[in-house]
Amino acid sequence: MIKIYPSILAADFLNLAQEIEKVSKASDGIHLDIMDGVFVPNITFGFPIVESIRKKFKDIYLDAHLMIVEPDKYLEKFSEYVNGITIHYETVVHLHRTILKIKELGCEAGVTLNPHTPVSLLEEILPYVDKVLIMSVNPGFTGQHFIETTYEKVRKLRKISDEKGLNVEIMVDGGVNKKNIGLLHQSGVNTFIIGASVFYSENPSQEIIELKKAAED
Ligand code: DX5
Ligand code: ZN
Repeated sequence: MIKIYPSILAADFLNLAQEIEKVSKASDGIHLDIMDGVFVPNITFGFPIVESIRKKFKDIYLDAHLMIVEPDKYLEKFSEYVNGITIHYETVVHLHRTILKIKELGCEAGVTLNPHTPVSLLEEILPYVDKVLIMSVNPGFTGQHFIETTYEKVRKLRKISDEKGLNVEIMVDGGVNKKNIGLLHQSGVNTFIIGASVFYSENPSQEIIELKKAAED
């Protein structure tokens, strides 16, 4: 099954509730980009916003992408509001411990790789994670160009997952559009994080439907 989680980083923050309403039916969840200005050169939003989203959208799947240093400090608080927590491989020393902690808190646990971080580093952790998020841009901003070597990276990860008899959920984040979504799906991606293509379009919910169609073609 193909899933699309729109990234609200590309939404109009002054009208966040309406923006989420526009996509909530057509999408499979909402992607929340949490940036601290240290791990990435941008700052987004934190708990007050995440809590407000959860209060208004009680049943929606919330997928938190933590682009912050020392994510362990904040896992408990995020777990009160979100369904999935994905932390960056590059930000933790004891990845196994962190992944188990996320699961203990009742959330799906994901690990994210920056574009330069090889998938081979995930060999040992793969049986413990629910999902892997492959960054197809350098994290920090919406509207960047898709990095072409992502296809090969996804294929390698799918191969490792298959060889281990696992069925890990593979996600990509950054620069995904109707032109590249088909090949990404063929390469092994299940879940697409999409900001700009969805929220900058005339009709975001129709765009999600068309993106899913393009993925299957
Ligand atoms: C970038 C973020 C993404 C981003 C999605 O650091 O993690 O979620 O908003 O990329 P676009 O907007 O290019 O689809
Ligand atoms: Zn993201």
